[in-house]
Amino acid sequence: MSSPCFISGLGLHLPRTLVTNSDLEHIVDTSDEWIRSRTGIATRHFAQADEPCSVLAYHAACKALENAGMTAQELTHIFVGTFSGDYNLPSTACLLQDMLGLKGIPAFDLAAACSGFLYCLETARAYTCMYPEAKILIVGSEVTTSRLNFEDRTTCVLFGDGAGAAIVTGQANPGSVKVIDAMLKADGSVGSLLTVHGGGSACKPVLGQTIGPEYFVEMNGRDVFKHAVRCMVEISANLLEKNGLTTDDIDLIIPHQANIRIIEAIGKKLNVDSEKIYVNVDRIGNTSAASIPIALTEAVASGRIQPGMKVLLTAFGGGFTWASALLQF
Ligand code: ACO
Repeated sequence: MSSPCFISGLGLHLPRTLVTNSDLEHIVDTSDEWIRSRTGIATRHFAQADEPCSVLAYHAACKALENAGMTAQELTHIFVGTFSGDYNLPSTACLLQDMLGLKGIPAFDLAAACSGFLYCLETARAYTCMYPEAKILIVGSEVTTSRLNFEDRTTCVLFGDGAGAAIVTGQANPGSVKVIDAMLKADGSVGSLLTVHGGGSACKPVLGQTIGPEYFVEMNGRDVFKHAVRCMVEISANLLEKNGLTTDDIDLIIPHQANIRIIEAIGKKLNVDSEKIYVNVDRIGNTSAASIPIALTEAVASGRIQPGMKVLLTAFGGGFTWASALLQF
């Protein structure tokens, strides 16, 4: 499938509480120096009780609609990428539909962890082939802190909360961005390296029993690191080659913001200068499915992306899943 679709609006929302590395020193045995040197992260936002996944998604969605010059009533579909939705049931997409005052339009969550936004984008691209009039709200929204074990210093310092949204349309609008192509991949055989098992049907909650660490993110950081770099590099190179492009044709790469060392390794292997790679992991941490749309929205709003530029997005997450997309501004 190679039909283009368009991004007609972008928006982001971050929860109000900013958490520094020094704040985390009061929670686990860690240090600002360790976190900065191993991850590049200095601050991240943590959602409070009144800021669940759907609320973050709602604020990002409203901003994307405003940016697109559209009303919610024009939307035809809602897709939400998340691993930290409000509930198992109903889906965050259905909660969001109701918050936007809509009824009837299809709404579903998509589980691809940190690749969730790009999986939503490619799904939306397929829908716009079937329904060229479609105006699809796609959102990456995460309250990762609801799935973090704050007794595990190897994971809890890495993540933050937030949401980013886009309006995907089958037809171009003034100022809309063309999605040239995208590619998705997955490998379930290595899924055990990054998990949240608890609460699923293979790891059932038992009434009255205390929950254990399996209810939170558990990760083999070193192996995830290696897979993340290899997969994002490979899929980006494949997508560029498929479209007759090289990294010289790309003005900006927006990689999933997991860790500065992963981002730098991707740049090195793709032979791309650091000025051509967007980084906000220092301020925002790893927001999983929200990472790409937050960075993309920021890069456009700050003027880092200008009309005429080609932008490469790439993500990697639990599953494992990984993905890349090419945008023409
Ligand atoms: N503060 C202080 N010390 C710590 C902390 C912490 N927060 N966490 C771990 N350490 C200690 C370890 O206990 C270990 O101590 P030891 O040598 O006495 O046993 C030491 O630091 C080194 O630990 P390593 O795990 O070897 O550290 P490493 O250099 O591999 O960095 C990290 C760990 C940052 C997790 C790295 O492996 C990584 O970035 N992996 C990628 C994981 C990731 O980003 N996942 C996100 C989800 S997937 C995605 O979004 C792509």
